[in-house]
Amino acid sequence: ITDLITGTLALSVFTAVLGSLQFGYNIGVINAPQKVIFHPYLNQYSEPIPPQTLTSLWSLSVAIFSIGGMVSSFSVGILSEYFGRRKAMLINNVLAFIGGGLMGMSKISRSFEMMILGRFTIGAYCGLVSGLVPMYVGEIAPTTLRGALGTLHQLAIVTGILMAQILGLESLLGSEQLWPVLLGVTVLPTVLQMTLLPFCPESPRFLYIIRCQEHHAKSALRRLTGRLEVSEDLAEMKEEKRKMDMERKASIAELFRSPMYQQPIIISILLQLSQQLSGINAIFYYSTDIFKKAGVENPVYATIGAGAVNCAFTIVSLFLVERMGRRTLHMLGLAGMCICAIIMTTALTLLETVPSMSYLSMMAIFGFVAFFEVGPGPIPWFFVAELFSQGPRPAAMAVAGCSNWTANFLIGMGFQYVANLCGPYVFLIFALLLLLFLVFTFFRVPETRGKTFDQISATFHNHPQNMMDMDQGKHSTELDYLGSDGTEN
Ligand code: GLC
Repeated sequence: ITDLITGTLALSVFTAVLGSLQFGYNIGVINAPQKVIFHPYLNQYSEPIPPQTLTSLWSLSVAIFSIGGMVSSFSVGILSEYFGRRKAMLINNVLAFIGGGLMGMSKISRSFEMMILGRFTIGAYCGLVSGLVPMYVGEIAPTTLRGALGTLHQLAIVTGILMAQILGLESLLGSEQLWPVLLGVTVLPTVLQMTLLPFCPESPRFLYIIRCQEHHAKSALRRLTGRLEVSEDLAEMKEEKRKMDMERKASIAELFRSPMYQQPIIISILLQLSQQLSGINAIFYYSTDIFKKAGVENPVYATIGAGAVNCAFTIVSLFLVERMGRRTLHMLGLAGMCICAIIMTTALTLLETVPSMSYLSMMAIFGFVAFFEVGPGPIPWFFVAELFSQGPRPAAMAVAGCSNWTANFLIGMGFQYVANLCGPYVFLIFALLLLLFLVFTFFRVPETRGKTFDQISATFHNHPQNMMDMDQGKHSTELDYLGSDGTEN
């Protein structure tokens, strides 16, 4: 493994996931300090804002983040093809500066409008990150490490969430004076990323297959692999390019029309939905409230505890994903989350009669988070990049990203209303959804570990040649339950 990870590869992945770090930071940052940020006098008018309007403004600034993500993730395809992966990431940083700047300056300017606009802009930044980073990392990673390096995107997200939770403590930056700094520091990783990106090579697959620049692709490959001799890697790309040139251009509409792409795009969308509709962000957006209801004494510290569990289990997944495979880990995660949701509900219903149930519900919440990071957290992000070859990949990333953000928005907006309606039973809804996604994964999701992009997309083709490719694959047995036309045998 160590000779596969060259300095350039490590630097490139690290630089890319600095974007993911900001993505996580901005998810986590608004949980704790909401009371101090939306102050009645955050406006230029002499009248204070009435409390009810304040609550609505607050919900708006939470939710508008995902709207920004929804809008921008849809343009991931166009941007990454037009500018290339690396330049698109570089340009995206403009949004981070504007977003961070607006939020950081909203207090001095006494303008809640700036805060809301800043949240939208930083959401748009994160929407692009959620497509560009997994795509770039997936394309530069060696086949045998694609899952592990892909998981680093999620690891950076969860690290960002944890950093925001800690810095958001009232004794650190989450105070009435310092919250603008808390929201503004998101630009620091941006500066670092802009400094490092010029030293990272563009994706050789993009250079060769899309831009037909064999010479540049070769030198990028040499830097990434640390080998002079890269003809084998190039031959694999040539094969992918040959097939791509025979296909029609893959637009978003084409993904749904062509029988070749229908299966993988449906799998991609459902995996994204399984990540968001698992209910994970009900925890990350509203944890303080949930822990309070569960009778936990120090909800803010419990929230940080959840953030720490979140990080720890992403690392676990990092080490397991190339051994146990994506399919198994995703199913394990969904099943574990489903069981934890049921335990949590039971504990919450019994809470009034048995006070010690608050410990059980807290453990169940930690378990829920832990199982999330084993599979449903990291896997959907890089799995989409794996399921598609170079041609349709950008369009697929856009569709998958947009589904993810839409579901994220629905949970962010809807959870509190549903929780008020259902009381302690609200997590049973997630348990049911988790079960459905588990069944879907079992019947429909193929294993992609150790296979080249070409071999994976061959799983969904109905070409005799592709059947042969499949049989030559290292882990072909894991794909065997899918027939040549993508239906089960
Ligand atoms: C994933 C999700 C994100 C969630 C996070 C929690 O990255 O996309 O919405 O908040 O995991 O760790």
